[in-house]
Amino acid sequence: MAQIFPKWTNRLPLFILIGAAGGIIGVVFFFWYFGSPQYTDVGYQPEQPVPYSHKLHVGDLGLDCRYCHVNVERAAVASVPPTQTCMNCHSSVATESRKLLPVRASMAENKPLEWTKVHDLPDFVYFDHSAHITAGVGCESCHGNVAAMEKVHQEKPLSMSWCLDCHNNPAPSLRPASEITTMNYQPPANQLEIAMQLIQQKNIKPPIDCSGCHR
Ligand code: HEC
Ligand code: HEC
Ligand code: HEC
Ligand code: HEC
Ligand code: HEC
Repeated sequence: MAQIFPKWTNRLPLFILIGAAGGIIGVVFFFWYFGSPQYTDVGYQPEQPVPYSHKLHVGDLGLDCRYCHVNVERAAVASVPPTQTCMNCHSSVATESRKLLPVRASMAENKPLEWTKVHDLPDFVYFDHSAHITAGVGCESCHGNVAAMEKVHQEKPLSMSWCLDCHNNPAPSLRPASEITTMNYQPPANQLEIAMQLIQQKNIKPPIDCSGCHR
């Protein structure tokens, strides 16, 4: 009589077990690798209460970042502008626009617009914009070409290894103070020379010890 289950099937449970274990390891690896912040945060682009476009206001109209992010050179936080900054223009520009309804309401009711944060480090990490701007790191190095963004998204991982990559070798990311907010920056041929001068002049030494960023 032919065997219904050939002999090798005796080892089937073992194969299933090995296969399942491999599968679990694969799943764990998948989440550990692709679920790491390096992958999860890049591209994050939340909805905003107003369809404000950096591409229009910065790319086309040519506003400087510091017109709105006024504290970025002086404070840890870059801060998002108050409604009054928008109304400097929009009390006379596009006054009938439906897209600006929430802005006019915010002004009339004296209630700030509730922008959703795009970039957000965990609270146990210390970060300071002014230290980076004064040293000569341009906005573009950490936020990408914002002037081309219709809606802001996170361009860089903001992970610990990303911070450390630059802290270990800041020279390629340093620019003269006049180019801090320039987008699509084309460094001159003697960029490294300029950077070395900046590093000496300003005694630039980004922290790489734990307490530098975890205070
Ligand atoms: C006319 C005002 C204005 C100008 C000029 C402006 N921004 Fe903004 N920016 C805003 C507003 C409003 C928000 C909040 C809404 C949003 O995220 O789009 C914002 C958000 C951002 C964010 C995301 C903040 C977060 O929540 O993480 C970044 C990064 C940013 N701006 C960078 C820049 C850079 C770089 C420039 C210059 C190239 C610039 N901005 C010029 C008004 C401005
Ligand atoms: C320096 C002047 C200026 C400032 C400051 C400014 N805008 Fe504008 N904005 C403009 C101009 C010019 C247009 C184009 C108007 C048009 O297309 O008719 C525009 C267009 C817009 C539009 C699109 C309107 C539509 O109907 O298509 C929105 C939304 C907008 N701005 C939001 C904002 C917000 C929010 C702020 C503040 C963070 C702001 N703007 C600050 C000048 C400005
Ligand atoms: C060295 C990297 C780096 C540079 C350079 C940099 N940023 Fe940021 N930016 C960040 C990080 C990281 C955050 C998130 C901070 C947090 O969550 O505490 C952030 C947050 C922001 C925010 C949200 C508000 C805030 O402060 O949390 C705005 C707006 C912003 N940056 C604008 C700018 C502008 C404009 C420039 C250039 C003048 C600039 N940034 C340069 C890394 C950088
Ligand atoms: C593109 C380069 C670059 C990146 C990316 C970068 N940094 Fe820096 N960082 C610098 C430079 C340059 C300095 C200035 C060092 C100096 O002036 O001695 C600095 C200084 C600092 C300081 C010291 C500030 C002070 O007040 O003493 C801290 C803290 C810091 N960075 C945290 C971070 C964190 C956290 C991240 C990642 C979220 C980050 N940095 C990403 C280049 C960078
Ligand atoms: C240049 C800044 C910087 C330095 C220096 C630094 N860290 Fe971090 N660290 C960060 C940032 C940014 C994060 C948050 C990463 C994220 O959200 O993905 C972080 C996260 C962590 C975490 C949380 C783990 C995780 O994956 O979320 C631990 C633990 C940690 N750091 C330990 C250390 C130790 C230990 C040192 C010294 C050897 C150190 N850090 C030095 C910036 C730094």
